[in-house]
Amino acid sequence: MKKLADKTVFITGGLSGIGRACALAAAKEGAHVAIAYRKSAAAAIAVEDMKYRIPNAFFIDCDVSVFAQVQAAVEKVVSMFGKLDVALNCAGIGGEPNKLGEMSEHAWLKVMGINLSGVFNCMRHELAQMEKQKSGVIVNMSSILGKVGFAGAAHYVAAKHGVIGLTQTAALEYAKEGIRINAICPGFIDTPMIAKTSIGKNAGVEQHIVGLHPMGRIGKPDEIANGFLFLACDESSFITGTTLEIDGGFLSE
Ligand SMILES: NC(=O)c1ccc[n+]([C@@H]2O[C@H](COP(=O)([O-])OP(=O)(O)OC[C@H]3O[C@@H](n4cnc5c(N)ncnc54)[C@H](O)[C@@H]3O)[C@@H](O)[C@H]2O)c1
Repeated sequence: MKKLADKTVFITGGLSGIGRACALAAAKEGAHVAIAYRKSAAAAIAVEDMKYRIPNAFFIDCDVSVFAQVQAAVEKVVSMFGKLDVALNCAGIGGEPNKLGEMSEHAWLKVMGINLSGVFNCMRHELAQMEKQKSGVIVNMSSILGKVGFAGAAHYVAAKHGVIGLTQTAALEYAKEGIRINAICPGFIDTPMIAKTSIGKNAGVEQHIVGLHPMGRIGKPDEIANGFLFLACDESSFITGTTLEIDGGFLSE
């Protein structure tokens, strides 16, 4: 029996990195996959690639930082599939690194708008639908940086801590409604987001980051997808309000 047979799975940021790996894993486990993505030339190519890999996937142009666009995206998924079983709120950005005392308001608001308000926007509309159904699962993509500080990334760290707060609070509010809400805290994972930063461009920085993981390497998107599948399916039926750390031991140091 496939883990997500006939489930409708909505994934933001599902064209790249972790979200893409989760979309492919969900499709392999029998899900109907709906991917929300932000329009760009690169996204158009990625959509074609995903159409080839998941022929029945559904694609929706949606900027998660815009409340009305997220509402419309969730409504489209429900009108297409009749229900929303699983939502993975994965869209995110790294943000420009800077010390807090030198961080621009623009840089702060951009990261908060996508990484925190974006997750609020998604949960707000997903929960409204799931409450009607009296069922559903939400998985939010937080980070190890939702648990500890990290110099140069105050905006990202604050947003990812906020995602855990949203997860725990919503889990309490909806525990009796048949809706489970959890977060994943990945360590550093080999994705385009990381490739764009100094970690991907500077061997010394990469060695430092690798050294923060006791397992002596950074993670792979598929390793996060395995955790997502577990939280999304009934194997985790008594788990809500928790964080799953998939971090090669980073947070145990
Ligand atoms: N890679 C890591 O080391 C790592 C570690 C911990 C947590 N995370 C989190 O995992 C998630 C996925 O990251 P990734 O590493 O796969 O990065 P990625 O850049 O490969 O993927 C992020 C996706 O989010 C999309 N996105 C960005 N802004 C958006 C917006 N406003 N609306 C809709 N989509 C938008 C991008 O287009 C992209 O498809 C992020 O939330 C990130 O913070 C990543």
